[in-house]
Amino acid sequence: MQTRLLSTTQTTPFFFIRRLFSTVSIRPMAQANQNQAKDRSNLIPFSSRLREGRALAQDVWSIYNVANLPADCINLGQGYMNFAPPAWVTEAAETALRTVAPNHYSHPKGRIRLREAINKFYGPMFNRELDVESEILVTSGANEGQYSVFTAFLEQGDEVIMFEPFFDQYLPSVTFNGGKPVYVPLHPPSHSMNKATSNDWTIDFDELRRAITPRAKMIIVNTPHNPVGKVFTRTELEGIAALAEEFNLLVMADEVYDCLVFDGKEHVRIANLPGMWERTVTVGSAGKAFAATGWRIGWLIGHPSIIQPTLAATTRIVFCTNSPLQEAAAAGLEQAKERKFFETQRQEYLERRKILTDVFDKLGLKYTKPEGSYFVLLDISDVNFPEDYPFPQSVLGRGRDFKACWFIALEIGVSSIPVSEFYCEDHANIGEAFGRFAFCKDVDTLRKAATRLEGLSKYIKRIDT
Ligand SMILES: Cc1ncc(COP(=O)(O)O)c(C=O)c1O
Repeated sequence: MQTRLLSTTQTTPFFFIRRLFSTVSIRPMAQANQNQAKDRSNLIPFSSRLREGRALAQDVWSIYNVANLPADCINLGQGYMNFAPPAWVTEAAETALRTVAPNHYSHPKGRIRLREAINKFYGPMFNRELDVESEILVTSGANEGQYSVFTAFLEQGDEVIMFEPFFDQYLPSVTFNGGKPVYVPLHPPSHSMNKATSNDWTIDFDELRRAITPRAKMIIVNTPHNPVGKVFTRTELEGIAALAEEFNLLVMADEVYDCLVFDGKEHVRIANLPGMWERTVTVGSAGKAFAATGWRIGWLIGHPSIIQPTLAATTRIVFCTNSPLQEAAAAGLEQAKERKFFETQRQEYLERRKILTDVFDKLGLKYTKPEGSYFVLLDISDVNFPEDYPFPQSVLGRGRDFKACWFIALEIGVSSIPVSEFYCEDHANIGEAFGRFAFCKDVDTLRKAATRLEGLSKYIKRIDT
């Protein structure tokens, strides 16, 4: 594949910043006032909280974006599907749109049909009848639900512990609400390990304990994990639970990929461990469950003492979640069991995973085989590229993974995401060894991507470790 370059004006950071903030400026107020006569485009200084949590920074999504990559580049970077939700779910959405009530406000707790469907589907997994009035909250995607929990529970300066690599939205969601992220890295398998799985990414419990200060208020546990694919073991979760109990932490169990657990792994819900129900909020997402990420339907499950303050927060943030698609998500959960939907979907994802892992095996490249979620972390240490390759400014000065992912996108025609983005600056070197390839794409797309990825063979030079 030919090297295709964007024009310099398209690749400078200023291009992206201009695009991202075309209506605001980061100019200090005094200078803005001085220039007021000349330039009236940015009279009002925006909130300083936007300077926190990398909210103003150019993120990976805007760099490795279809707009900046060659038109025919296959997008395995972004973690959304290129296939439709099941027809019987979208039909329920259509029915809801043709019915009067679901076109109007829902109760801020969520539509009763969806809350009842969540109780019926999830109650047995929590070994309890969930109270649909006080223990379930429907949110505008998992993301808004998580934001609302932070709003409801964080005081200025409260610390939130998160394992790295972390889902990048946690960071601004925590800091916008006055919280301070505290990072604890998962330790990756060494480069010399053959056939590593996501279980080889481990927690150093001494390190975790040391990270907990008197200001610690919450810990986020994402299992199955994005981007590692790790399904936390019962022993690991028991260790985290013991620390949560000892230091009185609220646990946010981000389980949005709970329907994608492979290889006979057990998905353990930390909320079910002894004493944990009262201090855990479990997060779910219809977007992940039903291939409907744009619908923005999620839910929180937990003790009333967690759900009720969060309801107060979400009511002031969004008031309620869009109504017709709540009906559709309800239909999804109501019928999933009878249709064996999640079993079938899991098999489909296994086939998708295999297409990627087969090509990496063929190339002799190391990767982490994910036991959950839909990402493969490719160890890119053995992928070589010319140092003088014409990288855009947005990639220069970042980790080696930024360059490798850019090079692979332009030379091979498959985009991925550099994993150092999901680390704090001090730990970014851990992530630099990996590129994240999403396999939530249809089989044809993945096969085409695999054929292209075979072209990596000429850039492989093994390093000794
Ligand atoms: C770990 C994790 N949590 C939460 C979310 C947000 O889910 P939703 O799209 O339902 O807001 C995502 C989405 O990628 C995710 O990967």
